[in-house]
Amino acid sequence: MIRTEDIRVTFGGVVAIDRLTMDYDGSICGLIGPNGAGKTTLLNVLSGFVTPTSGSLFVDGADQAGRGPALRAKSGIRRTFQTDLVVDELTVWDNVLIAAEHTGGRGAASDVNAVLQLVGLDAHRDRRVGSLDTFERRLVEVARGSVGRPTHILMDEPGGGLGASESARLAELIISIRDELDAQIVLVDHDVELIAATCDQTACLDFGQLIAHGPTAAVLASDEVKAAYLGSIDSGEETV
Ligand SMILES: Nc1ncnc2c1ncn2[C@@H]1O[C@H](COP(=O)(O)OP(=O)(O)OP(=O)(O)O)[C@@H](O)[C@H]1O
Ligand SMILES: [Mg+2]
Repeated sequence: MIRTEDIRVTFGGVVAIDRLTMDYDGSICGLIGPNGAGKTTLLNVLSGFVTPTSGSLFVDGADQAGRGPALRAKSGIRRTFQTDLVVDELTVWDNVLIAAEHTGGRGAASDVNAVLQLVGLDAHRDRRVGSLDTFERRLVEVARGSVGRPTHILMDEPGGGLGASESARLAELIISIRDELDAQIVLVDHDVELIAATCDQTACLDFGQLIAHGPTAAVLASDEVKAAYLGSIDSGEETV
């Protein structure tokens, strides 16, 4: 359970998050909105990479004030990045092991094995990441965010640049990560099919403001969300 209370983030004159009060209590929670809406900024706040200008954040009831990204990762709040942090020269195994070691390390090797099996990369464990295709590489980033028995996994556009069949496989994977690890997942994506297939609740940001939040089907059908976001995707104006 993630609770934000009156969170505000400003960068110079830009208000990236505008007084956000929200409870994320679903098991897979979507976060959508146009480019620049504040989605990555909110993940940065949840994972401790950005300190809000004001407001409070509670994760499973614990106030996160003063807790930096390393401490949050160790306590189970993990993430993937919109621009992945995988290292081309290293193997799949080493990329995931590094993430495991950063988040506590005990029993890391067996954790790495389990997570590679979960994402379907166990047969590729000794390949250099630079030799993988886009989807396999994305799976490595997802594995890095899922290793180390996380309680919460924040995913920033794991579906970006994937085709429809890969997106459907990713949806199945996200659901099995939730089920196998019993972790709460926050999923940012422009892939509305992926959001609809996985998220039990979804929030929509626009210019840093929460314009809708609730059951995913209702949010995707709401006039505010269509006007602010989905209309621009339908007309092809949205860029990822
Ligand atoms: N470090 C930063 N310094 C200055 N401005 C920033 C910084 N990070 C984000 N912003 C600004 O904050 C706003 C929100 O950006 P953010 O990256 O959170 O959007 P987003 O919803 O993730 O967009 P996208 O869908 O394109 O990834 C934008 O106006 C962006 O330019
Ligand atoms: Mg972003």
